[in-house]
Amino acid sequence: MNTTKSHQLLEGKNGLIFGALDERSLAWRVALACQREGARFTLSNAPLAMRLGTLQKLGELTDSEVFPCDVSDYKQVVELIKKTIDSTGKLDFILHAVGMSPNIRKRIEYSQLNYGLMRQTLDISAISLHKILQACVQNKALNDGASIIALTYIGAQRVFSKYSDMNDAKALLESIARNFGSRLGQKGIRVNTISQGPTKTSAGSGIRGFDAMYEFADKLSPLGNPSADDCADYCVTLFSDLTRKVTMQNLFHDGGFSTNGISEELIFDLIALNEQKNTSE
Ligand SMILES: NC(=O)c1ccc[n+]([C@@H]2O[C@H](COP(=O)([O-])OP(=O)(O)OC[C@H]3O[C@@H](n4cnc5c(N)ncnc54)[C@H](O)[C@@H]3O)[C@@H](O)[C@H]2O)c1
Repeated sequence: MNTTKSHQLLEGKNGLIFGALDERSLAWRVALACQREGARFTLSNAPLAMRLGTLQKLGELTDSEVFPCDVSDYKQVVELIKKTIDSTGKLDFILHAVGMSPNIRKRIEYSQLNYGLMRQTLDISAISLHKILQACVQNKALNDGASIIALTYIGAQRVFSKYSDMNDAKALLESIARNFGSRLGQKGIRVNTISQGPTKTSAGSGIRGFDAMYEFADKLSPLGNPSADDCADYCVTLFSDLTRKVTMQNLFHDGGFSTNGISEELIFDLIALNEQKNTSE
């Protein structure tokens, strides 16, 4: 549970949040934190995910409209943006928390990728950010000073073998954020990515070896892994006016993982492992 007190940092702001699937979803926690800070927003997810019915629950909880949209289909994205601004007005913030790799789901190794599936990975997880922002620009959907965040992972910079083609998707996602950030800056609009540490959500847990990646990151990070609620609080700061000059950045929110070389805990683990190996020989 998020116990952070409200500072009303988002009072009067209107947002659009993609990717809340269930209570563990990063987008779900972000929605609750945005509500706490006084924002109103629209929620969206793929039509298939919406059939699960949990997003409607979040809609009721936060008094938000819920619209379906497959973000890989540009027509649906344009329709969603038009519907959203018709119903709630222009946007002050957007959260892109969407990711999916059919290659990972089917346990296909990186050196044997199915390219049709890889195109889907890139389309859903990265090019969708371009589609959303292009649709916003064409429909004048963003207020001056708006803030856009896409959630990413350090696989964009370093290879995590089990993260497969999602490593590539995240690199593309971060590049799209920078490119749009450069163009939208004239209107004071910020575009950033938050590189979240491993978090136990539906997408996260679907990756083979996730538990090992989670434990490794937790032991390497001086502050430990960030929770979904920690991520939500960080998003609030970036949606707020307090960060109005931050744009085109990939911001690590990972407890220090990305900068730490090795931790005492990992050194002791490796020493213990070596001692175990030596005694069994
Ligand atoms: N969980 C982690 O460890 C972690 C770490 C870093 C970054 N991220 C990123 O955070 C974001 C949110 O993931 P999460 O961990 O909350 O998992 P999640 O499974 O709760 O969220 C992923 C969402 O993507 C949606 N989605 C998939 N295909 C879609 C489509 N075609 N159209 C619209 N929506 C679609 C799903 O329905 C789901 O709501 C993703 O971009 C993920 O890569 C997650």
